[in-house]
Amino acid sequence: MTAPTSAELAALVARARDALPHAHAPYSDFQVAAAVLDDAGRVHVGVNVENASYGLTMCAERVAIGAAIAAGAKRILAVGVTARRMRPIAPCGACRQVIREFAADDAPVASDAEDGTLVVATAGELLPGAFRLERG
Ligand code: THU
Repeated sequence: MTAPTSAELAALVARARDALPHAHAPYSDFQVAAAVLDDAGRVHVGVNVENASYGLTMCAERVAIGAAIAAGAKRILAVGVTARRMRPIAPCGACRQVIREFAADDAPVASDAEDGTLVVATAGELLPGAFRLERG
């Protein structure tokens, strides 16, 4: 499959933005939504899901990836992330490792800036030297 175009990345971020009202962020008041494009061309969305026991909070990116895998996706071709205040979101370290589990080094991770432009980095740029389980 060919690399997603910027129009496709913009559409992915727009899908994330549609899900943003579903974010459950009563503690931080920082709503985040993510959308992932899978290897079958499907889009799966996720939002952050906070908890009264703060450490149980789930980030939007990992919720979206979990939805993709539960729906049968094997690989992730691109990720879109957005926040309510429309600022580019840098996925947290844990999410970067989880993105790398399913996405190639050159898979784009896009987020929207205040002026509507997209900020794009590759999964490899976000987490160089990602942990890989190599036995023996
Ligand atoms: N959050 C995400 O959903 N994704 C990230 O990559 C960074 C942070 C959420 C977690 C928490 O609900 C809120 O943002 C504030 O940290």
